[in-house]
Amino acid sequence: MQPLPEDSPLHLAADLVEDGILITDGLRVTYANAALHRMLGYSPVASLHGAPLQRVVQDASWQVAVTRASAARAKPWQPIRMLHKSAGTTLLRMHLVRHAASGCWVAMLRTADAGRHQQGSDERLLADLEAQQKAIANDLHDALGSDLAAIALMLVQIQDQIAPAHPLHSRIVQVRERIHTTAQNTRRVSRGMQAVRDAPGALVHALEQLVVDWQEFRGLHCELQVEGDFDGVPAAVGTHLYRITQEAINNALQHGGATAVLIRLSEVPGQQLHELTIEDNGRGLQAAASADNLEGGSGIRSARARARLIHGTIGYDNGPLGGCRVTVRWPRPPGDPAGA
Ligand SMILES: Nc1ncnc2c1ncn2[C@@H]1O[C@H](COP(=O)(O)OP(=O)(O)O)[C@@H](O)[C@H]1O
Ligand SMILES: [Mg+2]
Repeated sequence: MQPLPEDSPLHLAADLVEDGILITDGLRVTYANAALHRMLGYSPVASLHGAPLQRVVQDASWQVAVTRASAARAKPWQPIRMLHKSAGTTLLRMHLVRHAASGCWVAMLRTADAGRHQQGSDERLLADLEAQQKAIANDLHDALGSDLAAIALMLVQIQDQIAPAHPLHSRIVQVRERIHTTAQNTRRVSRGMQAVRDAPGALVHALEQLVVDWQEFRGLHCELQVEGDFDGVPAAVGTHLYRITQEAINNALQHGGATAVLIRLSEVPGQQLHELTIEDNGRGLQAAASADNLEGGSGIRSARARARLIHGTIGYDNGPLGGCRVTVRWPRPPGDPAGA
């Protein structure tokens, strides 16, 4: 393969990437992007291009990495010790792939704690969102809710001054009923926006409330089954599970056209794991999307981030009700007795 010129669009683009990129041809560096130069202590202008590979990695560890990457079921992001300019070594994680046509190896490299940074930023983002929602929920509940109550009271006073036989009397009663329904809806929306509270049993309570809301206000057949003890689920974990459930129900209606949703909390037999499933009777996922390769939109991406934050896993498939099934598993707190 002809090496690409330094200012090729591909190289210019690679210099914008935060992961390190290294391309080698035999035992020579054909390309290293700016991020990798920084990780190894080189200034991006002091080009490593054309340098012997030994300058950036010990021969033996490179051979190990290549052997591992050639294995049929190679795992990405293996640890690798790279050589720093200051003669020290630096631990990175590497995803190595071979470009079959040219025989070149292409490596992506991350600092060993990049995953933790990612987790930190997910956590901050979701915590910010949660705080915003809570503030809006409080405003809705306090400001709008109490305004509506005040208006209803004013109407009672007007109503008292009108003879019951007067045609306006019954109109006022109608308006009061409308205000009452609006106040109820406001409370419902505000409750749905509020995080699961910090009290024993709060997760189950919040899910029960969610089920009632969907049943009564939106006419969906919704059921919650609880098998096991979920009193000890911390509020932060409960809030993530609650939001995953909300999004799954929204998706069931929006994409699946479902008329029924079953939510189940249970304990995974023989494992220190809790399980939450949300299953619908809609059209289900398209065959191609049903496996782990489901890319998803922002709903599924944020559900995945939430599952990571509770050190759990999330999967999407089609369940026995015919529609989509979302399965979340997360570890029980240490000391939680194994379930029945
Ligand atoms: N319950 C479901 N039934 C059918 N398809 C679904 C369901 N949930 C998700 N999907 C599919 O997964 C895609 C991604 O969902 P999501 O990440 O929530 O994004 P969005 O709802 O914004 O499209 C949907 O567009 C849909 O094709
Ligand atoms: Mg969605």
